[in-house]
Amino acid sequence: MQITEYLKTVQQRCDDHLNRVMPVKEERPNIIHEAMRYSVFAGGKRFRPALVLASGKVFGADEAALLDLACGIELIHTYSLIHDDLPCMDDDDLRRGKPTLHKAYGEGIAVLAGDALYALAFEVIGRCLTAESMAEIARATGTAGMIGGQAADILLEGKDITPQDLEYIHSHKTGSLITVCLTTGARLGDAAAEEITTLRDFGERVGLAFQIVDDVLDETGSTETLGKKSGADKDREKNTYPKVHGLQSSIDQAVTLIEAAKNALVLPGHDTIILELLADFVVHRVM
Ligand code: IPE
Ligand code: IPE
Ligand code: MG
Ligand code: MG
Ligand code: MG
Repeated sequence: MQITEYLKTVQQRCDDHLNRVMPVKEERPNIIHEAMRYSVFAGGKRFRPALVLASGKVFGADEAALLDLACGIELIHTYSLIHDDLPCMDDDDLRRGKPTLHKAYGEGIAVLAGDALYALAFEVIGRCLTAESMAEIARATGTAGMIGGQAADILLEGKDITPQDLEYIHSHKTGSLITVCLTTGARLGDAAAEEITTLRDFGERVGLAFQIVDDVLDETGSTETLGKKSGADKDREKNTYPKVHGLQSSIDQAVTLIEAAKNALVLPGHDTIILELLADFVVHRVM
């Protein structure tokens, strides 16, 4: 199967389900609901939902529960993008090929729509997940995960940092959420503890590679293809893999991480081909 076909199917299924779970703009507070939908339905690869669905499928998880989890995580991801683009963070004007939410609706509405997406995510995820998995998602998106990485990302702008600090930023701001897609998806099925550990190792490598490639594409991609402004990291003096390691070494590191991730994805008796193709997608993608 072509991974682009798989991602297209995921996009369709997720968008239908997101449309069902998200409040309509005719409901108060109308403007917040409209803003939430503006960002969620602006596009997006739905890579994280694809990981959830693929990982759960490997372990025979219930499809309806998986879809709730996949969409809940996409709501969290979209909230993180809205806040990431704010003037007090990366100050970006373009996202998913459209004006960023604060450009279209103002900063106050953008902050609140992001907060509301995060709250809605836990409402949706809570319908299917155990307390253990809920807590894991909370941790992965809080100071031990995404917020930890995002905080270091903005605090260290324009400063010289060590490769270790850079890896911390990337594996936390992006890797943590990607990893939790795989572990919680599998836990909705019948994955054993050691299988969850295998998926966590896979997710950590894939997640770090995903952010390295995001940095690479910021230098090599076009604004039109990316749907966000290319060259933005240099303008903001961001600490990126290309800045610290050089462009070619960054690409090589991402490729090596993906190879290592696939080699270590040993789950006897289970078909892991989609997960492997999704890992390959991380380094082959152009957006
Ligand atoms: C962009 O994520 C932000 C990062 C964490 C690197 P994606 O590249 O998955 O963005 P969308 O969801 O496709 O817009
Ligand atoms: C974003 O990293 C990470 C999160 C949103 C958590 P970037 O700031 O590099 O993402 P883009 O390039 O704006 O999509
Ligand atoms: Mg950022
Ligand atoms: Mg950004
Ligand atoms: Mg980036």
